[in-house]
Amino acid sequence: MPEAPLPPQRNVLRKRRRWERVLAARRRKRAQERERSRARRAENPGAASRNGGRALASLAKERLLEARASGPRLCIDLGVAARMTEKETSRLASQIRRLYGANRRAEKPFWLCLTEFTEGSLIYRECLRMNDGFSSYLMDTTQESYLDLFPLDAIVYLTPDSDNVLEDIEADKVYVLGGLVDESIHKKLTLQRAQEQALQTARLPIREYMVKSSSTRNYHSETLAINQVFDVLSTYYETRSWPAALKAGVAAGKGYVLPDAAK
Ligand SMILES: C[S@@+](CC[C@H](N)C(=O)[O-])C[C@H]1O[C@@H](n2cnc3c(N)ncnc32)[C@H](O)[C@@H]1O
Repeated sequence: MPEAPLPPQRNVLRKRRRWERVLAARRRKRAQERERSRARRAENPGAASRNGGRALASLAKERLLEARASGPRLCIDLGVAARMTEKETSRLASQIRRLYGANRRAEKPFWLCLTEFTEGSLIYRECLRMNDGFSSYLMDTTQESYLDLFPLDAIVYLTPDSDNVLEDIEADKVYVLGGLVDESIHKKLTLQRAQEQALQTARLPIREYMVKSSSTRNYHSETLAINQVFDVLSTYYETRSWPAALKAGVAAGKGYVLPDAAK
C-alpha cells in the first residue's frame, strides 16, 4: 500500500530537522578543513607571503566555504527572470557578476545560490556568455526553488514593496532577491510571489535612515538593482551600521541621501 502523506506540520518539522543536520555536518567538515589548512600553514610558514595573489584567492575561498557552512545565505530567485526582455536579462547577468565579485571580496561573505536556474533558459545562456569563469563560481546553482531547499520559516524574501523593515541580518536565515531588472516595471511582483508562498518579507530601511534629496528633480526610488542591494547587505553585515551600508549601496541617482549629506 502507498505511504500516506505526512500532515503539513510534521513535514515542516522533518524539513527543519534535516536542514539542521545538513548544517551541522557542514560545520564539522569545515572545522576539519580549517584544521588541515592551519597544519599546512604551520609546516610551510613562508608560502603565503611568497604567493600573494594565490594567498588572497585562497583566503576568499576559505571565507566563502565558511559562509557555506555557517551562513547567511542569499538566493537569487530566477523563477521570475522569464518576465524580462533580452536586454534586461543581459543586464541581470552583469549584475550577478558584480554581486558575485563583491561577495568574493567581502570579509564576511554570504553563501550564494541561484535558484530556478534552468539549463538552456535565456538567463542561463547570458550568465555563461557574459561572465568569464562563470561555471567555476563558488556558489550553488540549482533548478530547484528555495522552497524545496530551506525551511519556510528561515526564508526572508527581500522586496522593496514590503511593509516590514529589515532590521538585522542573521546567519541562520536565507535571504532571497528577485532576479529582475525593472526597466519595464513589474510592480509588486516579488511581494505578491512571496505572499502567495507564505514567506516573510522585508524591505531595506531606506526611508528610516535617509532623506529625500532636493537635487534630483523630484525623482525618488527605493528600488535598487540586486548588486546594489547586495552592497547594502554586505556592508551592513560587516559594519552593523545601516547608515554606512545604505551609503555604500544607494546610488545618488535614487534621490535619497543620508541626513548629513542633505545639509
Ligand atoms: C530591480 S528590483 C525588482 C523590483 C520589482 N518590482 C519587484 O517586484 O521586486 C530587484 C530585486 O532587488 C531587491 N530589492 C530592490 N530594492 C529593494 C529594497 N529597497 N528592499 C528590499 N529589496 C529590494 C528585491 O529582491 C527585488 O526583487
